Amino acid sequence: TRARLTLDPAFRVAPVEPRLFGSFVEHMGRCVYTGIFEPGHPSAGPDGFRTDVLELVRELGVTLVRYPGGNFVSNHRWEDGVGPAEHRPTTLDLAWRTVEDNSFGLNEFMAWTARAEVEPMMALNLGTRGVAEALNLVEYATFPAGTRWSELRRSHGADKPHDIRLWCLGNELDGPWQMGHKTAREYGRLAAETARALKRFDPTLSLVACGSSNSSIPTFGSWEAQVLEETYDLVDYISLHAYYDPSDGDADSFLASAADMEHMIRSVAATADHVAATLRSRKRLKLSFDEWNVWYQSRFGGESSLDWARHPRLIEDRYDVTDAVVVGSLLITLLRNADRVGVACQAQLANVIAPIMTEPGGPAWRQSIFHPFALTARHARGEVLRVEPEAATIETARYGEVPAVWATATHDPATGAMTLFAVNRDRGAACDLDVVLPGGLEPVEHVELADEDPSAANSAAQPYRVVPRPGSGLRHQDRLATLTLPPTSWTMVRFA
Ligand code: AHR
Repeated sequence: TRARLTLDPAFRVAPVEPRLFGSFVEHMGRCVYTGIFEPGHPSAGPDGFRTDVLELVRELGVTLVRYPGGNFVSNHRWEDGVGPAEHRPTTLDLAWRTVEDNSFGLNEFMAWTARAEVEPMMALNLGTRGVAEALNLVEYATFPAGTRWSELRRSHGADKPHDIRLWCLGNELDGPWQMGHKTAREYGRLAAETARALKRFDPTLSLVACGSSNSSIPTFGSWEAQVLEETYDLVDYISLHAYYDPSDGDADSFLASAADMEHMIRSVAATADHVAATLRSRKRLKLSFDEWNVWYQSRFGGESSLDWARHPRLIEDRYDVTDAVVVGSLLITLLRNADRVGVACQAQLANVIAPIMTEPGGPAWRQSIFHPFALTARHARGEVLRVEPEAATIETARYGEVPAVWATATHDPATGAMTLFAVNRDRGAACDLDVVLPGGLEPVEHVELADEDPSAANSAAQPYRVVPRPGSGLRHQDRLATLTLPPTSWTMVRFA
């Protein structure tokens, strides 16, 4: 097949927001324990942080990390995870029916973010707790000194206040699986009162109200509307969560997952704008896509299958080339909507549906999905451009007709450089893509993620089975570059 697109610096969507390359560390399975934190591991220092994982986190280009959950946070007592290790209780995490020893908590997380050079994004428990506990935590974490909670932090060795700008007002409280699940009105009122108190404490904090946990939940749309009716003036973001898998073996629909992500973003933005209109508000709310990824949910036996283990192997999905192409297309979608999406977090960072895998006492390696994330985070610079490929369409059972080629591009006004990111969703045919360029640019790098076997994946034994490879078939003359997108592929071309 053949497709065509134009890169024009005049068609500007929005600046590339670094917070789009966020990730997520939940107390779940082995994300924290034996993932980022493993005292006694050969690569770990006295703080217990695995430096082999820290190196991969930096290579991945993660800018921000959400913590400590997820479902975990909705029954979490933050006080259990601070203070001398020998005084921390062993507790039950009801979300994942796991035993938690609390040896890693807020202060360890903040020390880890400094090592990883990422911004923290903290979630508050608005499931089983409320306004007072949220205020206590924010005071403990961020007030300089001289009060009950700030002095407690200082007595725990954290002399300086933590610089935490972003706070999530709970997690997925629309979901019946959530500890402390609420109706939209109940949650909206609690989120509003928590936000009012937190903004009184510090008006510069950025607050995220919980949106829907997926676009198929029956309350999708009405949840956002009701929650925002209560909270619109008090919050800075509304959250979106989405996970994709080829549950019914429908690979074409799976490769078109970005169609759902785009639909979700547009629907939530429209709902927020509707609420703004009814409130006569000029404020334009931003979206926080703070959980997204490929997740083979069908392989997860559900919470009832879990039986109070300590850091069990939970949802350790092994990702193949097709999964990496879908992840690449979801990153393209986040960039395409950079005028609305201000924060995004891939869920999760290590072991649990993650780009980085580890073995306890053993190595750490990159999954296939690591690569499109790392390359996008490194090379999406400057401003996102509006890119509309003319391409053949593919008929999908879940999303109807979708374009075979899905793309975005960035332009760095400082240097004039441009980077194109494109996916070919066609499993059967390569696509010759014509790229119309402004004058004076030449291709300087062309890489792709594709394989004759789209089910190829990395493992501890074969950590380099799936890696980006040089792209093929790139020709360039004057203002036209032509390249070949292999079947089921993700491609990046840099022009300078
Ligand atoms: O990331 C795994 C889980 O998915 C999170 O705990 C929850 O918020 C979502 O349902």
